[in-house]
Amino acid sequence: MEEEVPLPEVNIGMVGHVDHGKTTLVYALTGVWADRHSEELKRGITIRLGYADATFRKCPMCNEPEAYTTERICPIHGVKTEILRTVSFVDAPGHEMLMATMLSGAALMDGAVLVIAANEKCPRPQTKEHLMALEIIGVDKIVIAQNKIDTVSKERVLENYREIKEFVKGTIAENAPIIPISAQQRINIDALIQAIEETIPTPERDLDSPPLMHIARSFDVNKPGTKPEDLVGGVVGGSLARGRLRVGDEIEIRPGIKDDRGNWQPLRTEVVSIMASGRYVEEATPGGLIGVATKLDPFLTKSDKLVGNVLGYPEHLPDVLSELTMEVKLLERVVGLEEDVEVEKIKMNEVLMLVVGTAVTVATVTSARDDIVEVKLKRPVCAEKGDRVAISRRVGGRWRLIGAGTIV
Ligand code: GTP
Ligand code: MG
Ligand code: MG
Repeated sequence: MEEEVPLPEVNIGMVGHVDHGKTTLVYALTGVWADRHSEELKRGITIRLGYADATFRKCPMCNEPEAYTTERICPIHGVKTEILRTVSFVDAPGHEMLMATMLSGAALMDGAVLVIAANEKCPRPQTKEHLMALEIIGVDKIVIAQNKIDTVSKERVLENYREIKEFVKGTIAENAPIIPISAQQRINIDALIQAIEETIPTPERDLDSPPLMHIARSFDVNKPGTKPEDLVGGVVGGSLARGRLRVGDEIEIRPGIKDDRGNWQPLRTEVVSIMASGRYVEEATPGGLIGVATKLDPFLTKSDKLVGNVLGYPEHLPDVLSELTMEVKLLERVVGLEEDVEVEKIKMNEVLMLVVGTAVTVATVTSARDDIVEVKLKRPVCAEKGDRVAISRRVGGRWRLIGAGTIV
């Protein structure tokens, strides 16, 4: 009989430069290939946020780090391993065009594994930009996976280690453990699990407040051609930031959808079922990616249409803001390009891209004095005072991270 494993209690981001091996590492840890979309499989890059769970375990008879495993039975001693905890991985895309998706995923992360390929000189542009993003969003529990060590000499592994050490100096990852691995050949995965267990604790959760879930994916799960009477309602995926969500709860989704007159209308519906780690549960809590089936018309949820919305109890969600004021801290340099360039001050009427929670929106600056910036949003966001905002600007034809804001 399959043993019942605990539900995920912590979300760990997989971040880093394109092709450095994030999805391969999620596969090595979970057995799930998180790139599912046809375009992703065709092009071999991650486009949407992926997620997959793993239950970490420890063999009572092995030494460390060999004791750390995801196997139910220790392959060396043949004994049952002890369950440590279940974690959800959030697999971010590394391509520079998909920085907004990475930033929206960062809203769900309690900690992150920064994947750096040893066969390239460190840092590559999105190695820098992703680390900066973690810093801006406040994800400071970081493990570095130095990947693809099977493709280089021992000397190169050591040289790359020194490059990484130099790169993280003065950043939030300064003291992050650096674990040399091969995701593809499954080398040192045990040591990586140990480092995650020791570096990324499960945070204290607020279970008493009304629930608030950031929507990171949304789906129409009906197969084409399903008869109308067999259609099931729209599904939204994401993670609870606080509170408990139960089957049968009346919920609201904000900002919702734009009506014919151009006004945003929140959606009201009911939780029909909750899927966590591949099984139906009556109640979900923070930690872990969940799927929530609703009574919404699946047309409203198909193809990630509700990404960036917030889900919770009616009357208990933050306001919908179409303009906001933030206290801004700019980076010194734009880091996402091959060459770093200086960040200029934010100017009146300039157009920015903001990421608030999982929401991505374009904003026009209506006032900019010192570090207080007011913006008008093209797409409203459901957010509250104190929320972090990642600020990007178009540099060299692409949105590049330039700073952090806090809603005031
Ligand atoms: P994006 O999501 O597009 O940013 O890429 P990614 O970081 O998820 O990289 P992915 O896992 O798709 O791997 C990219 C390529 O590197 C694939 O061809 C992998 O097989 C290969 N690869 C990943 N890890 C290793 C490794 O440890 N060793 C070797 N030799 N190849 C690896
Ligand atoms: Mg990938
Ligand atoms: Mg949970």
